[in-house]
Amino acid sequence: MKIGFVQNNPLFGDIENNLAQVLGVLAEESADLFVLPELFTTGYQFINREEALELAETVPDGLTTQSLISLAKNINAVIVGGIVEREGDAIYNSALMVGPYGFIGKYQKAHLFDTEKQIFQPGTTPLAVFDIGCARVGMMICFDWRFPETARTLALKGADIIAHPANLVLKHCPDAMITRCLENGIFIATADRVGQEERIPGQRLKFMGQSQVVAPSGEVLYRASLDQEEVKVVELDIASARDKRLNPNNHLFADRREDLYRLN
Ligand code: ACM
Repeated sequence: MKIGFVQNNPLFGDIENNLAQVLGVLAEESADLFVLPELFTTGYQFINREEALELAETVPDGLTTQSLISLAKNINAVIVGGIVEREGDAIYNSALMVGPYGFIGKYQKAHLFDTEKQIFQPGTTPLAVFDIGCARVGMMICFDWRFPETARTLALKGADIIAHPANLVLKHCPDAMITRCLENGIFIATADRVGQEERIPGQRLKFMGQSQVVAPSGEVLYRASLDQEEVKVVELDIASARDKRLNPNNHLFADRREDLYRLN
């Protein structure tokens, strides 16, 4: 199957233009699954919760979800991307998944990074795996990478691929994802952004690009630049995520010693 990502540089707060740019880029591309960055329509650094609330959208009836559904139909692909989601009075840092037949599912970021805790509520959606036909796909968002239970849970639930929308600011993430792939025998596609934001004086955030696709073997199939917008599609063999044998004597999941992992 083919998997692709978009590495963008959104203009803060300009949902319509940021969305139009990604829609335009993907209209020319072909893959089974595309991953877009975290908060790809809004930008990242909200000054306060009210500002995020103004840019929040409902799922699945909001503009971004509906626009991505139309695109998914046109290009016959599944698409995962991150937005600010409003659900009742709560706002979440969410990822949504849509396909040619419509809305598939959503995930609300569980592990909020730093000042995100003043903006968003921690997610309540389960770590779910969606069967898109050519692969079983789970979602996690950016800083979730730092909690290995996230990827492990998705892998144990059957994910072949983790779609990982991100706005990376911590330099170890791209290499850490190699470990997550090795631990779980899965593919991880991280879609990051580039550029910087300093909407709060003195709190400059530089986003580090390096969107990538990593294989169960730990091989980095492709890693993007640190500072350029980019779209990339790579081919992968999903069978390599379904065979968890490392050699005739080791199996990544069967060899787990759950009896030793219990805390009491
Ligand atoms: C992050 O979780 N966006 C750093």
